[in-house]
Amino acid sequence: MTQMKNDLYLRALKGEKVERTPIWVMRQAGRYLPEYRAVRKQAGDFLTLCKTPELACEVTMQPIDRFGLDAAILFSDILTIPDAMGLELVLEEGIGPVFNKPVRTVAEINKLGVPDAEQDLGYVMDAVRVIRKELDGRVPLIGFTGSPWTLASYMVEGSGSKEFRRIKGLMFESPAAARTLLQVVTDSVITYLKAQVAAGAQSLMVFDTWGGMLSTANYQTFSLAYMQQIVDALKTDEVTKDTPVVLFTKGGGQWLEMMADTGCDGLGLDWTVDLANAKARVGDRVVLQGNMDPVVMNTGESQVRDNAMLVLEAYGNHSGSDKGHIFNLGHGIQPFAQPDNMQALVTTVQSQSGQFHSK
Ligand code: CP3
Repeated sequence: MTQMKNDLYLRALKGEKVERTPIWVMRQAGRYLPEYRAVRKQAGDFLTLCKTPELACEVTMQPIDRFGLDAAILFSDILTIPDAMGLELVLEEGIGPVFNKPVRTVAEINKLGVPDAEQDLGYVMDAVRVIRKELDGRVPLIGFTGSPWTLASYMVEGSGSKEFRRIKGLMFESPAAARTLLQVVTDSVITYLKAQVAAGAQSLMVFDTWGGMLSTANYQTFSLAYMQQIVDALKTDEVTKDTPVVLFTKGGGQWLEMMADTGCDGLGLDWTVDLANAKARVGDRVVLQGNMDPVVMNTGESQVRDNAMLVLEAYGNHSGSDKGHIFNLGHGIQPFAQPDNMQALVTTVQSQSGQFHSK
């Protein structure tokens, strides 16, 4: 069956006038969906799921088929790069991601090399190719990476962290070693994103989940400077120069101006940011993506509808002097979310947002 082509998300991300607000949701494929849990069980574990392109494709398609979202996001993880660098990623049930071989010493940092995107991460590129074929133009496909700072944090801590004692210790005590680490990760990210676009990814998102843990000066030096290198590399490459790039620093609301200065196309906003204020600050330079509190998705359908309207109203009318808005949550949807809430969210945004777009 041929489905109608929906390129609303890409047109919005390019700052074009659209008829309504597009919506996709971070972590839209995942444990809140029973059909995801079934495929994960079939795969055996999360990493096998990521490394089997046909299964990665199947779970990428699940939320598109079920809810009619306006974009698909590649099913994978940000930690594929450090895994390919030899750190051995395992996903521990109830704990989250853990590396068997974290990187802690200068000698270990100096041994790291840039993985070959097609050789060492070929399963990701294969997944992109299989998904593009399966999508057949229905909606655009988003590729992604973790930011260098966020990836380096996991690589040094060895797992998630609350205080970031080890990576911040490295940054304060051995800034040169921290920079060496961040540079090899940045070079890896650039190669990886270029390969994703060559394989078929139509927009890119950089998840800087832990940049918000830094002071402003350290954010500029140890996170933003490396995201700047990524944007520069993509915008000067023949293959990637027209592919929109969205930067998302969780907890980065006070840094929106400097993030927009990178030359990226869009900014992801977490729910702590006032959308109207963000629009006034940078809305004429970048598209804004976000930012409903994900916990709303764990409550009732009327709360979902009401809070979705509040986000649409906070951005307000699309006047033409602003770049526009893409609806999303302010962080990933949680495993406790009700699938019916996702349908209520998508229906609300798709049926109600037209009034904020002039005809
Ligand atoms: O958004 C999507 O639907 C695409 C797939 C995707 C996943 N992870 C799948 C996943 C994306 C874009 C990510 C990004 C990611 N991964 C980030 C950045 C975004 C963010 O949430 O801040 C981070 C920090 C990670 C690292 C990671 N991977 C963590 C902390 C965890 C465990 C916590 C959790 O949510 O389970 C993972 C595992 C993971 N990545 C799962 C999924 C669907 C759960 C795996 C499972 O148990 O089945």
